[in-house]
Amino acid sequence: MQINDLTVVILAAGKGTRMRSKSAKVLQSLGAKPIIFHLLDTLKNIPEISRSAVIYGFGGDEVKAKISANFPDTLLIEQKEQLGTANAVASALKIIPDNGATLVLLGDTLLLQKHTIEEILQAAEKQDLVLLSAILDNPKGYGRIIRENNSVTRIVEEKDANSEEKLVKEINTGVMLIDNQALKKNIVKINNANAQQEYYLTDIISLIKKNGGNVTAVVAQNTDEALGINDRIQLAQAEKIYQNRKREELMRQGVTLISPEQTYIAGEITVGVDVIIEPNCTFKGKVTLGDGVFISCGSIIENAEIGENSKIEPMSIIENAVIGKNCQIGPFARIRPQSTISDQAKIGNFVEVKASVIGNASKVNHLSYIGDSTIGADVNIGAGTITCNYDGANKHRTTIGDRVFIGSNSALVAPVAIGDGATIGAGSVITKNVSAEILAFTRPPLKEVKDWERPKKNK
Ligand code: UD1
Ligand code: MG
Repeated sequence: MQINDLTVVILAAGKGTRMRSKSAKVLQSLGAKPIIFHLLDTLKNIPEISRSAVIYGFGGDEVKAKISANFPDTLLIEQKEQLGTANAVASALKIIPDNGATLVLLGDTLLLQKHTIEEILQAAEKQDLVLLSAILDNPKGYGRIIRENNSVTRIVEEKDANSEEKLVKEINTGVMLIDNQALKKNIVKINNANAQQEYYLTDIISLIKKNGGNVTAVVAQNTDEALGINDRIQLAQAEKIYQNRKREELMRQGVTLISPEQTYIAGEITVGVDVIIEPNCTFKGKVTLGDGVFISCGSIIENAEIGENSKIEPMSIIENAVIGKNCQIGPFARIRPQSTISDQAKIGNFVEVKASVIGNASKVNHLSYIGDSTIGADVNIGAGTITCNYDGANKHRTTIGDRVFIGSNSALVAPVAIGDGATIGAGSVITKNVSAEILAFTRPPLKEVKDWERPKKNK
């Protein structure tokens, strides 16, 4: 077959009854993203593909909305009734040209890797159909590959297999590359005379063979790729395999994972060398870690960039933020979206920073809330300082110059600006702008009451 015009059809219309969910099976989350997104991401890297389509049905509105928002080039085709995998492919015939080839993928077989798809494409010459099989110790539940004189003659589904066929360990992964002419000629001949009364795409193999066509199987090197996710047990198995792949990728790039199985990775991490990650950390979205970054246990890092040699102390949460070089964050710090922590800065225990810029080498060491603020370089923010950014209706900004010292337990009522080099006395409530290089404080004078007696409890 010719693969110069290649269509990909992903079958994703099934309900996934065994998943016991209100959502379509292909939207179940793995590595914090819908399982169908994994396949669509893999396809992005295969240049031979001319067009790809997802066949949707059960939970269609949600499937359509999520796919079109994230993969706008993917065609979406409805399968009105879920009558089986052959019927699903038949609903895509209108976008399949008369010549070229079609790669059929199952929406629930997401561990399939790019190099395996390439291997299948390389086997296309002289074949009408190339399928991906796998040899499993426990083949239960899968379609079995039946061979005669070593060549593939048909596939029998578990539910239709006799006891001898059930012993066969070579299974159908569901991945098939089919010549478009052979597909169009034979798919119409498939009937539903089987245990599930479904139109099985797998029946196309015996039909092609009967017409003298050529069918071959590429045997998956890695049996993980065969895993079809039909229930939550298989979902957990797939997650485990996926996480292992991600962790190994990181370790190969020079990251030390202190306890690899306790690192959870969703999304894409880019790393420098000599990064150390302690147990129970979670990474989500796009994360970049510079050389020598140290992430202590229990931290959650999402869509963030962390500069060289910065140290994230235990139990810190960083989300949509940029951390510079040589910073120290935490323990128990929360850096919220739109925050930038500049080089050498220190954000300490129980400090929350939101939509703020913290200047070079500035310190917010203890128990503070810094929101909607711009803080200059070499600033020291005392323990318990609060930027009062919200008046009950609107948010306002606080601006603090370079070299400012804010005494402990001060409230800076925004909008407010503190000039360079100013010192704010402890316990102040600052409601007006403060000039540069001066001492400002608000503080009721100390009163002494003589001869005062503490209340006493009646005995
Ligand atoms: C299928 C294969 C089986 C293979 C296994 C691999 C058939 C008949 N059987 O079985 O040989 O070993 O996958 O995991 O092909 N779907 C539709 N429309 C339908 C029915 C299914 O779009 O009418 C979609 C499902 O959403 C799913 C995929 O096709 O993503 C496979 O369907 P599923 O019910 O999981 O098939 P299996 O029983 O796993
Ligand atoms: Mg399945």
